[in-house]
Amino acid sequence: MRNRVIVTGGAGFIGSHLVDRLISLGYKTLIIDNLSTGSKENINERAEFIHKDIRDEGIESLVRDYAPDYIFHLAAQIDVRKSLKDPLWDEDINIRGTLNLLKSASNAEIKKFIFASTGGAIYGEAINASEDVSPLPLSPYGIAKLTCEHYLRVYSQWNGLHFTVLRYGNVYGPRQDPFGEAGVVAIFCRQLIKGETPVLYGYGKMIRDYVFVADVVEANINAIKRGDGSIYNIGTGKATSVNELFNILKSLSKRNIEPEYAETREGEVQEVWLNTQRALQELQWEPQCSLEEGLKHTYQWFKENNGR
Ligand SMILES: NC(=O)c1ccc[n+]([C@@H]2O[C@H](COP(=O)([O-])OP(=O)(O)OC[C@H]3O[C@@H](n4cnc5c(N)ncnc54)[C@H](O)[C@@H]3O)[C@@H](O)[C@H]2O)c1
Repeated sequence: MRNRVIVTGGAGFIGSHLVDRLISLGYKTLIIDNLSTGSKENINERAEFIHKDIRDEGIESLVRDYAPDYIFHLAAQIDVRKSLKDPLWDEDINIRGTLNLLKSASNAEIKKFIFASTGGAIYGEAINASEDVSPLPLSPYGIAKLTCEHYLRVYSQWNGLHFTVLRYGNVYGPRQDPFGEAGVVAIFCRQLIKGETPVLYGYGKMIRDYVFVADVVEANINAIKRGDGSIYNIGTGKATSVNELFNILKSLSKRNIEPEYAETREGEVQEVWLNTQRALQELQWEPQCSLEEGLKHTYQWFKENNGR
């Protein structure tokens, strides 16, 4: 019998790429998404889709009836600044929603729960951060993701739930929302295509670890069979400034647009990039796509989709 999986947030940017890959591998896939930031256009036509909020009471019976082998939990509110403005709202989706799913997962006796956490917002200022660095989140979004990681650990102790946590760096690629606050690559692609002036916060000096979405998808696939009970950074181990990133995209666009510069916004760390040695050793995962290749592919996609 084919393995059955649930992907929450499967109509979103990363979740939809994961669904495509799972389906190509033969998994029978159910997407649970409330379409708050995701879109129907992203949904693979071979997936089943249920329009539902992860906080909904009906989640428990839905999970029980579908009886998945694996749950990939990616549904979340992902906006750091919104989490600072309204921490209760962030907590409600990102903690209560996750708990609702965790409760359902442990009653359904699944094989594993794979959780999308954050490497960018959990450590605070962090250079070459390994998973052993004590987290020091600077935003409610980061606090919520860390809290969920603790719940997973405790659920595995109480109920024997198997889990893997993947702490993503700054993920970029086709289908990312260019109107959100989180995806600077998508925002710059759209602005360059539309001839608008990008704003480089932190005067473009902020450092991040940019990882291409297809590589993040493969980390999720490897986590099906490996990495039980562990946490992994999923990045490139490379530090890239926003200025460097913008310059690559600007040259790809062949447009002579000068950006504006502004102060760092609250809740944002100045420098964070990830050590990914544990993922290499235990998940047997390493990123395959260079920043130049990934940005070229992404810019091309936005161009073909008119800045989406
Ligand atoms: N994009 C990044 O750089 C990045 C970095 C670290 C971690 N992550 C994590 O990866 C996951 C996916 O992020 P993304 O960039 O694809 O964002 P996204 O906004 O494109 O995807 C999130 C999806 O979850 C859905 N959703 C939101 N709230 C929901 C709710 N209450 N009930 C049901 N569905 C809901 C949205 O409609 C959307 O389809 C998130 O958990 C995010 O925190 C992303």
